[in-house]
Amino acid sequence: MSARINPSILSADFVNFERDFGTIANCDLIHVDVMDNNFVPNLTFGLPMVARMQQVTPKPLDVHLMIANVDKWAPDYAATGAFSVTFHAEASENPVELARTLRSIGARAGVAIKPGTDVQPYLDVLHEFDQLLVMTVEPGFGGQSLIEQTLAKVSKARRKIDAEKLDIWLQVDGGIDVSNIERVAELGADTFVAGSAVFKAEDRAKQIEHLRNLADLGIRHRH
Ligand code: DX5
Ligand code: ZN
Repeated sequence: MSARINPSILSADFVNFERDFGTIANCDLIHVDVMDNNFVPNLTFGLPMVARMQQVTPKPLDVHLMIANVDKWAPDYAATGAFSVTFHAEASENPVELARTLRSIGARAGVAIKPGTDVQPYLDVLHEFDQLLVMTVEPGFGGQSLIEQTLAKVSKARRKIDAEKLDIWLQVDGGIDVSNIERVAELGADTFVAGSAVFKAEDRAKQIEHLRNLADLGIRHRH
């Protein structure tokens, strides 16, 4: 298995998304951060923008919803044709039910947890999801440093996924860069969001390749 590198367009040029998509054409999925200035103290864009993005790129969208009332809104994002829709467990009344709804619409269903949220309750129902996103920073802003304590949750989730041979992607998001991606892969992540690490690079495509090679090394060193 090869690591997935999903550039976060939170670090892209907000009036030139289509142009910027062209600079990351070798990525695996495009990570789209939706923020509502309520669940997180930052605001990005909503449904019409995500729907339009899906029209201008052939790449699958990895939508990360950092919004309140997500049980109400997430199905509409799945209905745009987004490949994957990840919502925060902290914002949902019933994560398992919401995941079932998202899958029934045809999207992969992801559940995300903030740094302070325990992973254990979600490990018990992991088969209900297609992706577990362990946030490695507090959601809201790009360019922050990875919080080391969150990595214990990555190892714990990996042990569970391997022991039960679950078909689920283990994603990390926040502060991932060339200095830590190999180590985080070795601990268990297979899907990596990188915002500033990709968009600040001189040659973004080369940087994606570099990050993927480092992550693949970490995955190979796992066992
Ligand atoms: C933060 C977002 C991330 C962010 C990551 O709340 O969910 O996707 O863009 O940015 P970096 O990689 O710069 O930490
Ligand atoms: Zn994100």
